[in-house]
Amino acid sequence: MELNGKLKITVLYDAIEDREKARATAKGDDFALTYKSVAKALEERGHKVSLLAAGTDLRSLVTTIARDESELVFNLCESLGGVAQHEQHVVALLELMGKQFTGSSALGLTLAQDKALSKTLLHYHGIRYPKFTVLREQPGEWTSDLDFPLFVKPLNQDGSVGIDRNSIVNDFGELKERVSFVHNECGSPALVEEYIEGREIYVGILGNETAGVLPILEWDFSAVPDHLPKIASAEAKWDKESPEYKAPQVFPTDIPEEVVTRIRQVSLDAFRALRVRDYARVDMRLRPPGRRTPRGPSDKWEYFIIEANPNPHLDPKGELALAAREQGLNYPDLVNRIVDLAVERG
Ligand SMILES: Nc1ncnc2c1ncn2[C@@H]1O[C@H](COP(=O)(O)OP(=O)(O)OP(=O)(O)O)[C@@H](O)[C@H]1O
Ligand SMILES: [Mg+2]
Repeated sequence: MELNGKLKITVLYDAIEDREKARATAKGDDFALTYKSVAKALEERGHKVSLLAAGTDLRSLVTTIARDESELVFNLCESLGGVAQHEQHVVALLELMGKQFTGSSALGLTLAQDKALSKTLLHYHGIRYPKFTVLREQPGEWTSDLDFPLFVKPLNQDGSVGIDRNSIVNDFGELKERVSFVHNECGSPALVEEYIEGREIYVGILGNETAGVLPILEWDFSAVPDHLPKIASAEAKWDKESPEYKAPQVFPTDIPEEVVTRIRQVSLDAFRALRVRDYARVDMRLRPPGRRTPRGPSDKWEYFIIEANPNPHLDPKGELALAAREQGLNYPDLVNRIVDLAVERG
């Protein structure tokens, strides 16, 4: 396939997005359809674009992919039928059917999807993450060496599903309550991590062998009142009236240069360790000197990987697009760079 040539590209997305859009519109709410922005960005560069809404009728999905005549699939499926755990299965189907597509393989998506599995890989590579344990059942007593406060979340969700102002727990009673919530309301094992008090940092990555790190973006919760947790909770992501939602996203200038260099390197290390391809967003917590830690005060800048997103939200207003823009890549540049990366690696 010719690089920089005009391609036939199919933009693949979870059909549920159209239903969610219709529901939001009926309520008078906004709902951005990322696939439309991506399609427009591709058309602007002369590619011939088709849309494919992936539905849960698998026979029909397989038939449609088999008939698809595109040279490249631009994969935007973060789920199938809204089920996040199926994002890797959609890609597995593309692999089995011999389609070339943008973004991570089924393996990369699988490794990152399970946040405990990813941490065991990060551990092997000496990359720092919050100490954690996985609770598949309610514990009778607390014998773990993790120190409170703890952070309780579903093992394998995204979009801050099951993460809200009650995710931070201060004692065993609160922990049990939250673990029940994650088991019963989210239908997932509970991932329990030490809570990292600190700043919310996102590191975008673009590339493969010669991957580049985009400017570090911070969701600056410093003006959020102290009685609310300064985290990217569901309230922060979805409740427009909340102080967390209103917190600005900025490009921080006060992080020492050597700390920025290490954050960039560790993000790349995580990207490689988890077999991510083409693009990603690494979510981190950065603890400046003087902050509370479970084992007393620390006088160092410390950073912890929360997760690597191999299939991050690709909306023009999303963190990856903001970071790309800061580096001089506008949205169509970013989208088309992803196409070039997929074509280059073949
Ligand atoms: N151990 C932790 N300490 C402090 N904050 C945490 C911790 N784990 C998660 N958070 C907060 O919760 C947010 C969401 O966590 P996480 O990224 O694991 O969830 P997610 O649902 O996969 O999010 P998304 O896919 O939208 O990025 C983090 O960005 C961070 O603000
Ligand atoms: Mg995250």
